[in-house]
This record gives sequence, structure tokens and C-alpha cells, in this order.
Amino acid sequence: MNMISTYFWPGETHFGVGAAALVGPTALTYKAASTFILADPGVVQAGLLNGITASLEEAGLAYTIYDQVVANPDIASVQAAAAAMRQSGAKLLVGVGGGSALDTAKAVKLMVGSPAEANVWEYALLLGDEKRAYPDAAALPPYIAIPTTAGTGAEITPWAVLTQPEQQRKFSVGDRRTIPDVALLDPALTLTLPPHLTAATGMDALSHLIEAYVSTNHNPILDPMILYGISLVGRSLRMAVMRGSDLNARTDMLHASLIGGIAISSKWLGACHSLAHPLSAQANLHHGLACAIMLPGQMRYNLPAAMERYADVAAALDPSGTSGSTRKWANHAVKAVQRLIWDLEIPDSLSEAGVDQEMIPALAKAAMTDLNWWTNPRQVSEEVMERLYHQAFWGV
Ligand SMILES: [Fe+2]
Repeated sequence: MNMISTYFWPGETHFGVGAAALVGPTALTYKAASTFILADPGVVQAGLLNGITASLEEAGLAYTIYDQVVANPDIASVQAAAAAMRQSGAKLLVGVGGGSALDTAKAVKLMVGSPAEANVWEYALLLGDEKRAYPDAAALPPYIAIPTTAGTGAEITPWAVLTQPEQQRKFSVGDRRTIPDVALLDPALTLTLPPHLTAATGMDALSHLIEAYVSTNHNPILDPMILYGISLVGRSLRMAVMRGSDLNARTDMLHASLIGGIAISSKWLGACHSLAHPLSAQANLHHGLACAIMLPGQMRYNLPAAMERYADVAAALDPSGTSGSTRKWANHAVKAVQRLIWDLEIPDSLSEAGVDQEMIPALAKAAMTDLNWWTNPRQVSEEVMERLYHQAFWGV
């Protein structure tokens, strides 16, 4: 096979109950006198910062807390957060929260290392026409990422996904230089996440794993790990939603999210994420919920192009599910995902999620401008995107 496989690996990663308390000693190794903590407001209210600030205090480090993170972060929110970090004088960034906080912090890392007049939109990864060259890695402040949800994998991926409000579109910024320097994954921080967010973020992780596994990028040494991640979702997402205090289930899901992040960093994603992003940008759907609704239909569409791969997915997600031919197993992958969504009691159609059917043509147009479908195993077009939205409107 004449093919070069490219791998992007996480930075230093610590996983386990108590890992968040490593933030102080870790920050000390960067010799930063003060830190800028960027956190979800909900995270601050839930008291999840307490152990983190205590660890920084114990290490003798000053900190500034910034909690103006918004869901589906946009350009203005990133620019404001970057300006606040500059003003604080802090030389080290600590991001705490779900994907919105970790992505905002990732974009802040990029902007604080950029000239003051730069705008994050200038770094957008659009069809190869970035307007501004990325700064040198040495110019960027170190970033310690601490997730409080199990889904995005943003604590170890290179990209921040942001919203361009005028065009109501999602775009990404980032490359190897914006991979967080350290990730501290502490399952205890996810124990209080409410069921609907546990379900939606868990489905985001599953969609990362499945989309990466069938992607056209060839990264064979990741394959067994991705299937392991899928099996973790199969055995533990229901329990994490039904009984959030179950530490084993929470640990499995945080592992699955981490593996999903590692998987997409190298293998990238597919059409499900191209379909999901406009739903967040235009209809304000939670990203994980948008992925959950679009995933079964996109899988069914892809089946003929990646039959064996989906059969592997089924065997990992629901090993007791079926028997027989590869085709049967591949079909079972779609059914197993649908059953999971039904068990989690989250909306399984765009109509149930409150999306207006008349938005579909505009959503399909936007989906084609989202780069993730490049590695989808089956070719897509605007017509295909429209069809998949229509199918998802009533639920497939
Ligand atoms: Fe995602």
C-alpha cells in the first residue's frame, strides 16, 4: 500500500480520579507566576473549580478566573477572552469545562500568541485560503485543559470549533501548535453532569469514534483503540446517563471521549459532523444532540461504502446483537446506535428537537461548506445532505 499515515498525538495526558489536582504542580513546571482560568459559568457555580484553585494556591500561583464562556462560542467571545487574558498578564492558560470552554481556551491560546490586531476568523481553516500565518509555537502560552464533560475530546485535539455569527456557520482554527500542552482528565469532575448533557456529549464521543473508524484516512494503529472506545460507550453510556454517580461508567465514558479525540486528530471525521455543525450554528442545537440525530441516517447512507468497517463497529458497540453476514452486522451498527439513542431518551429527530423543516435547504448548503465530509467514506453532495436532513426530520 502506497500511503503515508499521519498521526497527531495528544500532549502530556494524566487520567484518573484526582488528576485535576495536578494543575498546581504542572503549572509550576512552566514557571508561570500567574494563570488565567477560563471556565464555563456552570462549572464555577457547581463548585468544580474549588479543587483546581486550591491546587494552584498550594503551588503559590496567582490566578484570574474568567467565566464569560458562551455555548457555541463565536468570534466576539474569543476576542474578548483573549483581551482579558492579555490584560491579566497571566502567562499560562487553564481551560475548565465542556467543549465550549476548552475550545474557547484553545482559540485564546492562539490569539494571545498573535499580534493584538489579529482576529481569530483570519485563522479559519476554510478551503486552504487562511488569511494569516499561524504564529510560532514558542509565542503561544502553555495551555492545561481540564474537561468536565465526556464527549468532545477537545482537551487533546488540535482544533477549536467556533461560530461565525453573520454567516451562521461553524469554522475551525488550530493545528499541531494548539494541541493543549497538558490534559488532566478527572472522571470525578463529570459525576454531576445532568443526564441530558451526559447523553448528548456521550453521543458526540460515539460519533467521533464511528466517523473516525470509517474515515478515508488510513491510520491502522489506531483501529483497535477506536473499537475499544466504541465498546466503552456500548457498555457504559446508558449507565452514566441513568445513574450519573456511577464512577466506573463515568470513567469509561471519559476514556471513550479521550480515545475519540485521539482518533479524530489523525483520522478526522465525516459527513455526520458536516451535517451537525449547521444545526448548531443556525438552529442552536447542542453539538452532541445534533450529532446523535444525524448519525444513524449518515451511517445507513455510508454502509455500502464501508460495510466491513461498520460490521466492526456493531461488534464493538453491541457484541451480542446479531449473527451472520458482514452486511447483517453492518446493518446492526445502525440499529444499535438508534437503540442507544432511544434508551437515552434524547430527541431522535430534527422535528422533535424543534428544527424548522423550511431551514433544510440552507442547512444543506452550509453542510457542504463544512470540511469534515472530505473523509466521509461515501461521496456526498448538496442533494445528499438535503435528503439526509429530510430523513432525520422525521427520524430514520
Ligand atoms: Fe463532535
